[in-house]
Amino acid sequence: MSSKTIIEAKKISKHFERKIALSSLSFSIKQGELVALIGSSGAGKTTLLNSIAGLVPLQSGELLIDSLPLSDYKRGKMFAKKIGVIRQQFDLIGPLSVIHNVLAGKLSEWGLFKSLFSLLIPQEKESAITALERVGLGDKPYEITATLSGGEQQRVAMARLMVQNPEIILADEPVASLDPARADDVLSMLTKIVSEKNQTLVASLHSVEYARKYFTRIISLKNGEIFFDLPTEKVSDELLTELYQLKEND
Ligand SMILES: Nc1ncnc2c1ncn2[C@@H]1O[C@H](COP(=O)(O)OP(=O)(O)OP(=O)(O)O)[C@@H](O)[C@H]1O
Ligand SMILES: [Mg+2]
Repeated sequence: MSSKTIIEAKKISKHFERKIALSSLSFSIKQGELVALIGSSGAGKTTLLNSIAGLVPLQSGELLIDSLPLSDYKRGKMFAKKIGVIRQQFDLIGPLSVIHNVLAGKLSEWGLFKSLFSLLIPQEKESAITALERVGLGDKPYEITATLSGGEQQRVAMARLMVQNPEIILADEPVASLDPARADDVLSMLTKIVSEKNQTLVASLHSVEYARKYFTRIISLKNGEIFFDLPTEKVSDELLTELYQLKEND
């Protein structure tokens, strides 16, 4: 079964003043792939994810999302159907109920009026309840989001993404703030849901163990360059040791 190329990076570079964050990276990702981005702190993982999300302008090179230049996408509905972002901080609105946060996944599709109206009477409640059931929070739609635990809040963020239903999910250290048991739980759920819907996931992780356990491909970055880009089963311990070595040989 051949799948389409959903993300293509052609020699993309990003500098911050004199600091090179991404140095002429090229890769392509097919629909349905589960890609872990690993590498030491400062390697460029966040910059790369933010570039794909259109949040960071590039100095040179080109990013194609589903064969169209990223710059062709207007912010809003069309883009929200392509790309969804999940952050470490979840971006949830604490004082609102869980279900309202989940329905925020519809914001770009609905426009402001319907989104505001949904604050009074939750619209399309069923889709949100289904998503919450899916992440194991079916009994908590009307709890105040801020009162939930970190792991539960991350699940609310996942339910919101399910309602948004983008083709590509970008996640920057999605489990960094969770304890190991919850992190495992959240990653297992996220990768399962994404695979079922044939969505594409690109997630940065500090844990090589999780990258190996849940992802089909690992792209490692070192000093803004791709150090290796391999199917998970080909990633050896030797390569990992080299990746995280502190001293550079150049
Ligand atoms: N807004 C910015 N201004 C200046 N330099 C930046 C900015 N954002 C990132 N950098 C630099 O670009 C490089 C790559 O940073 P990036 O945040 O992408 O790394 P990372 O791999 O996500 O690291 P971490 O694992 O710590 O999150 C770093 O040297 C960083 O200092
Ligand atoms: Mg980062």
